[in-house]
Amino acid sequence: MFRLFSALILLPLLLLSGCGPDKDSPVYQRKQAFKQMMRHKEAMYGMLSGRVEYEPKRFAAELAQLQQASQKPWPLFTELKDSRAKEDVLLEPAAFKQSQDRYQQALADLAVAVQPQPEKPDAVRAPFKALTDSCQACHDRFRIE
Ligand code: HEC
Repeated sequence: MFRLFSALILLPLLLLSGCGPDKDSPVYQRKQAFKQMMRHKEAMYGMLSGRVEYEPKRFAAELAQLQQASQKPWPLFTELKDSRAKEDVLLEPAAFKQSQDRYQQALADLAVAVQPQPEKPDAVRAPFKALTDSCQACHDRFRIE
C-alpha cells in the first residue's frame, strides 16, 4: 500500500521535473536577460514614438536599467541546447565579441545623449536608432529566425 502511495505521489513529481524549462540553465537565464533588455528598450521606444509621453528622467532610468541588463547574457553563451543561437556564437567567438562591442558602443553613445536629460527627445532619436540597429545586426548574424 505504501509503495503504491509513493508511486502515485512520485510519478507526477518526476513528470513535472522532466518538462518545463530548467531555470538554472544558462540558456534559460540568458533568455530572461534578453527579455529584460527588450522590456526597457520597448519602454524607451514608446516614449520616442509618442505612444507614451516622453519624460527625460524616466527615459534615463530605463536606459540605466537596459545598461544593467545588458551585462548579463554574454557570459551565459556556454551551450546551444534549446536555444535559438546559431553555432557561430561558439565557432566564431571573435565575431560574436565584435557584435557585442558594437552594441556596447551604441549603448555608451546613447548614454552620452541622454545624460543631460534633454527636454525634447530629438537629440536621442539617432543614437537610439543606432542602438536598435546593433541589436538587429547581431540577431541577423547570430540568431536563428
Ligand atoms: C551580440 C549579439 C546580440 C545583441 C547585441 C543583442 N542580442 Fe538579442 N539575442 C542574441 C542571440 C544570439 C539570441 C538567441 C539566444 C538564445 O536563444 O539562446 C538573442 C535573443 C534575444 C531575444 C529572445 C529571448 C528569448 O526569450 O528567446 C530577445 C527578446 C532579444 N534577443 C532582444 C534583444 C534586444 C532588445 C537587444 C538590444 C537592445 C539585443 N537583443 C541585442 C544576440 C544578441
